[in-house]
Amino acid sequence: MVKAAVLGASGGIGQPLSLLLKTCSLVDELALYDVVNTPGVAADLSHISSVAKTKGFLPKDDGLKHALTGADVVVIPAGIPRKPGMTRDDLFKVNAGIVRDLVKGIAEFCPRAFVLIISNPVNSTVPIAAEVLKAAGVFDPKRVFGVTTLDVVRAETFTQEFSGEKNPSAVNIPVVGGHSGETIVPLFSKATPAFQIPADKYDALVNRVQFGGDEVVKAKEGTGSATLSMAFAGYRFAESVIRASKGQAGIVEPTFVYLPGVPGGEKIAKATGVEFFSTFVSLGTNGAEKAINVLEGITEQEQKLLDVCTKGLKGNIEKGIDFVKNPPPK
Ligand code: NAD
Ligand code: LMR
Repeated sequence: MVKAAVLGASGGIGQPLSLLLKTCSLVDELALYDVVNTPGVAADLSHISSVAKTKGFLPKDDGLKHALTGADVVVIPAGIPRKPGMTRDDLFKVNAGIVRDLVKGIAEFCPRAFVLIISNPVNSTVPIAAEVLKAAGVFDPKRVFGVTTLDVVRAETFTQEFSGEKNPSAVNIPVVGGHSGETIVPLFSKATPAFQIPADKYDALVNRVQFGGDEVVKAKEGTGSATLSMAFAGYRFAESVIRASKGQAGIVEPTFVYLPGVPGGEKIAKATGVEFFSTFVSLGTNGAEKAINVLEGITEQEQKLLDVCTKGLKGNIEKGIDFVKNPPPK
């Protein structure tokens, strides 16, 4: 039996992600929680002839408690998206409190669940989640993930003309670091199967992966950020976590984790000087079984990108931790 809960289920990401989870034959129960509209979204999805029993919950009548009780996997796309001209960090003021409060619910009602955080700024919301779970005495770093799959999905897509793959997902491209601008570091030299990027195209390609989110924000003209590609990416990651939890071996995904709490992570933390970092992780029945170090042998160009990344990432991480340790006055 697998129960999945989506927090922020009525939103631009929440709805298509819930649709994909509803069609996943591994999900038996799907709980949709949001501050608005979940009864309608759940009624609509519940007509689909797939396995998952689907129910919507609102804050009234202990909705969060009922949505989370018994959940094995909780995906969080709750919170506001960017408008043109904003950075992901500009979302912190609103989204930090939303994530903190939802994760308090997880600590209380489903402390062993796998927690998948989509809400931005991921570089800070994941440290917030970790601090909340730590304070409640239930933090298991192997079960808390920042969803950075979209960066890898973009890298796969944007390099297709060079990889030559008909299906862009057939290439494995590590994208490490964080999830915002220069903290996103594509390691094209580590792609498998390997391919070459012409030197005169390299900078533009790195920039496109780092700022792919802005492309969508701009094109949507103030109505939001990536939702459909994010639902695809979020589902890809959630399905991998579920498959691995059911015993499927050999599943590796990129994700932003607390390195010192994941086997193999300590070495990466030492090399980068940051404790939260996105890297390839092998997934197993208990979550993140091993953080894979893809940093050895990277090119000089990639090392320069990494140095810029870790500087920015440090501040983002500290900001998240500080928000929980020294909450701002209400
Ligand atoms: P959206 O505004 O369309 O949807 C957000 C949903 O969250 C809304 O339905 C809203 O009612 C709900 N919500 C707000 N407060 C809540 C609370 N306290 N409890 C439960 N639900 C609550 O936004 P979106 O486009 O779906 O984006 C959601 C978040 O995901 C944003 O922060 C965005 O920046 C982020 N995002 C992350 C990635 C990534 O790669 N990690 C990619 C795209 C978007
Ligand atoms: C993305 O990468 O598309 C998301 O983080 C949303 C954003 O704000 O760009």
